[in-house]
Amino acid sequence: MTLLIQPTSPELQLADWARTMSRSVLRQMIAVVSQPGILSFAGGLPDPELFPTQAFAEAMAQVLATDGLALQYRPPFPPLKRHIVNLMAQRGVTCTEEQVFITTGAQQGLNVLARLLLNPGGQVMLEEIVYTGAQQAVAPFLPDILTVPTDLQSGIDVDAVERHLAQGARPAFLYLIPEAHNPLGVSISRDKRTRLVELARFYGVPIVEDDPYGFLTYGDDWGMESRLLSDSASSLQSLPLRALDAEWVFYLGSFSKILAPGLRLGWLIAPEWLIPRLTVVKEAGDLETSGLMQRAVAAYLDAGHLPGHLAKLRRAYGRRRDAMLSALACHFPADARWTEPHGGMFIWVELPDGMDTAVLLETAVAQE
Ligand SMILES: Cc1ncc(COP(=O)(O)O)c(C=O)c1O
Repeated sequence: MTLLIQPTSPELQLADWARTMSRSVLRQMIAVVSQPGILSFAGGLPDPELFPTQAFAEAMAQVLATDGLALQYRPPFPPLKRHIVNLMAQRGVTCTEEQVFITTGAQQGLNVLARLLLNPGGQVMLEEIVYTGAQQAVAPFLPDILTVPTDLQSGIDVDAVERHLAQGARPAFLYLIPEAHNPLGVSISRDKRTRLVELARFYGVPIVEDDPYGFLTYGDDWGMESRLLSDSASSLQSLPLRALDAEWVFYLGSFSKILAPGLRLGWLIAPEWLIPRLTVVKEAGDLETSGLMQRAVAAYLDAGHLPGHLAKLRRAYGRRRDAMLSALACHFPADARWTEPHGGMFIWVELPDGMDTAVLLETAVAQE
């Protein structure tokens, strides 16, 4: 048999969505600012000096010394689920271990939910300015993205959400970051949270609540304990949407910002009947989240380190927020405006009309 030699080599055919893929602006920016001598405030990278390295090393050593199967393929680790149920209770959310689905980070949670809920070419609802990972998670479906604006004081424009739904849109889900939005820094007001949940129920449109910053609220007056242990109006302000509805809200949690992103460990709270389906979807991606990491984090939590660590993080990041806000007030043009976050890692700055931030970044990198 003779093989026909083609005069030119055939072109590799990428999937439709992969052909439209472009390099994320954030990654390009990180490449520019990761040069020596440049301190970047662009990405949401936690400070490595705040990683609980010593305590985590002890937890990991203990697991390896005592659990001979920690390195084996294993199902999700029940003691970690118990810890997550307790953590959620501290945020005012009631859930059961059966509703906890361990993920390899919140990003994976978003990815499996997109694969579970979204059809190719289907609709999703996102804010106009939103965490780029949310856009990346839905991109393979070439979705019709309905966008809604965000108010920098009170969060997503709920009237705009309602208008879309009232006009007949039925997105596969509405994606939200209710606490310390990435990148806008705003938290959704209490009234809006209630309305969003009502809309989800009324129109049968699930909400994906992405909450990696919910444990990172600043200052004693705004800290987790003070909000959850009192009944004042402000104490309810920051309840996750999942605390208001267990059927239509899928909650994404993460250890990335409260311990370290390198652990690649997070969780999803979903109705129990969906957990077996989520398991099948996830298995196609990574079979299972690292059993070793699940055990090491559970051992770290068993040792009771987290409350003190969280208090330390909230103090440290709160001080940095204050320093950044003072620097902005001191050095930025009078008609620039910015958000004043109650938590998380993001301040959103808008410069006066006519200033191109891409050009400004190049100039700053070249001149400074
Ligand atoms: C809003 C939001 N969701 C998800 C993630 C990713 O979290 P994880 O590291 O748990 O995958 C981030 C990380 O910056 C984020 O800001």
